Amino acid sequence: TWTIGNIAEEQIERVRAQIGERGKAICGLSGGVDSAVAAAIVQRAIGDRLTCVYVDHGLMRAGETEQIERDFVAATGAQLVVVDAEKQFLDALAGVTEPEAKRKIIGREFIRTFEAAQADILGSDPAATVGTEEDGKIAFLVQGTLYPDVVESGGGAGTSNIKSHHNVGGLPDDLEFELVEPLRELFKDEVRAVGAQLGLPDVIVQRQPFPGPGLGIRIIGEVTRSNLDILRAADKIAREEMTAAGLDGDIWQMPVVLLADVRSVGVQGDGRTYGHPIVLRPVTSEDAMTADWARLPYEVLETISTRITNEVPEVNRVTVDITSKPPGTIEWE
Ligand code: XMP
Repeated sequence: TWTIGNIAEEQIERVRAQIGERGKAICGLSGGVDSAVAAAIVQRAIGDRLTCVYVDHGLMRAGETEQIERDFVAATGAQLVVVDAEKQFLDALAGVTEPEAKRKIIGREFIRTFEAAQADILGSDPAATVGTEEDGKIAFLVQGTLYPDVVESGGGAGTSNIKSHHNVGGLPDDLEFELVEPLRELFKDEVRAVGAQLGLPDVIVQRQPFPGPGLGIRIIGEVTRSNLDILRAADKIAREEMTAAGLDGDIWQMPVVLLADVRSVGVQGDGRTYGHPIVLRPVTSEDAMTADWARLPYEVLETISTRITNEVPEVNRVTVDITSKPPGTIEWE
């Protein structure tokens, strides 16, 4: 019989068969469920020959980096390298407000940081790349590709041995990466079940979608440390109240957006304020291609609004986005 338990065992066996004794593997962790489960499977298969790399770009929500550093490592025993790149990302983003420009900068800095970490890990250890392949130099790159990704990109079965040639500064010229994709045959709900089976905590396994560029595309305006701190505080409250109300399973996701470029007049405490609005963007969806705005209970919206305006001094207004997709996208940038 086909159970989640034997899906996990089977994938672990397959990874063991693919990698064998041929070398070391690298896996980039994003904080999301796919990369975490892929890494957990490979860790079970080859132990410390896997190194996970987490690039902390400073654009994560409250508690997420700690979840990776503490909970992921506790659950899997995987070797983890955390690269603190917040300053590098914020310097690169200084003065930038245009959404596509932000996305390009974040993507570029991410690749740079990840490749430098990769070069450190593989380059510092000649034994890292010993192998029995013709060229003698091979390393494995673990990716959390899911079945729907394979279908969408026209891949299909039997292509799991493609080699991607990266030209990476600092790495041996003839180093080849072979992809390891243990989730290629699985759907999201199966990935979650396998993750739970492997002992990953709910905060990781049940995490709703979160964009790679993180809070960088949820600040309308400049991405600064102070804007990030304001948004993190508001987002934390919204997530706490959604969880307390038992609503996490009812929605697809709820981006919380800071309108840093907008100010409005309010009255808080002893007098007039001139603060920023927060937008709640709760949506329901099947696949993120289309979405409907989620009809959250008024009491929950009220609690979120009251808490944010009481606890986050820079925010004096909370609004709810009631646009479907299309015409609105889920994220604001
Ligand atoms: P939009 O805003 O296009 O978002 O309606 C659709 C879904 O994709 C997520 N999203 C991203 N995910 N990298 C990601 O990994 C990205 O750059 C990115 N941009 C948007 C978004 O959260 C929603 O689930």
